[in-house]
Amino acid sequence: MHLHRYEKIWLSFGILSLILFLTIIGINAFGHNHTPAGGMMTIDPKKVDVTPPFDHPGVVKLDDDTYQVAIVGMAFGYKPSQIRVPAGKEIIFKVTSADVTHSFTIIHTKVNMMAVPGQINTKSYTFQKPGKYLILCNEYCGSGHQFMQTEIEVYQP
Ligand code: CUA
Repeated sequence: MHLHRYEKIWLSFGILSLILFLTIIGINAFGHNHTPAGGMMTIDPKKVDVTPPFDHPGVVKLDDDTYQVAIVGMAFGYKPSQIRVPAGKEIIFKVTSADVTHSFTIIHTKVNMMAVPGQINTKSYTFQKPGKYLILCNEYCGSGHQFMQTEIEVYQP
């Protein structure tokens, strides 16, 4: 098969760019030890009930300006079912799943996390306005997926 000179040049250019890009991606992924978003905090999904902080799901005050909320997603709801946090304080959400992949999405906020069995995902958020916020599951998780929701109440401290 005869290859035209320009074809050879462009083929070499394409192959070399591919090698270059794959090398850059490889160095970034492995050399810099990149991990999936949310860190690589892991948990045994069968022992969620007995592993802190998920053995006592809910709100814990860490200090005057910081609160932590441990949440377990499961078919088809969230533990705890009631969440109350103050406005204007940093709220650190820690989310995992006891069964399949769900999500923890607070509508009209930037909190949109996957709840993955075996992983702990963390997101910090400060609610500026008090009120009730809807929490939805955005990952299809089974026959009751569309019913998987709860509410978070943000109060004026
Ligand atoms: Cu849980 Cu969809």
